[in-house]
Amino acid sequence: MSKKRIAVLISGSGSNLQALIDACADADFPARIVLVISNKADIYGLKRAELAGIPTTIIKNTDFSSREDFDAALHSALIENDVEHVCLAGFMRLLTKGFVEKWENRMLNIHPSLLPLFKGVHTHEQALKAGVKIHGCSVHYVVPEMDAGKLIIQAAVPVLPQDTPETLGKRVLEAEHIIYPLALKKMILGDGYSIEPTGNLMIVS
Ligand code: GRF
Repeated sequence: MSKKRIAVLISGSGSNLQALIDACADADFPARIVLVISNKADIYGLKRAELAGIPTTIIKNTDFSSREDFDAALHSALIENDVEHVCLAGFMRLLTKGFVEKWENRMLNIHPSLLPLFKGVHTHEQALKAGVKIHGCSVHYVVPEMDAGKLIIQAAVPVLPQDTPETLGKRVLEAEHIIYPLALKKMILGDGYSIEPTGNLMIVS
């Protein structure tokens, strides 16, 4: 099986990157990570990539005078490495329309809410404030609008009465690590791959 060449873009701890690294270690997984790009130096995600033997590139947005120039540098790095699909994993930069359109239907993002609810940042605070009983995470194709784009998979978790943003966020993050590899596989295999429902109906009062 020829594995698709993936780049993962990060800005932080890279726990979702780790989930993707672990999934790609399986001989049957249809992708391999050929490049990790960070817009920040000294983040733990870079260490995770190095430990896995994956090449890394730091492209600091602060080194560029415009978003267009930064995105052009990102695009060049992707093309130079023959990247076929891109996963945004905690990448905290908005991408320009021009860049996004170059990777249309080939770029995924993971967001810690059940989109279209709670876009942007502080999603767990937003969920607690709204009083929802179910929260979760979404993987979607990236489009120029932030946290929009066709959903590929979502996972739901309960919101418990004693939850803080931290406890809720930890529960959501565990779900993220499960769905991101599934979503990547689904993007690559398309309709030929269907994710089995767990059969658990979650009802939270
Ligand atoms: C995750 O919650 C992800 O959904 C959001 O940023 C966080 C990144 O965490 N976009 P990590 O760097 O993957 O640990």
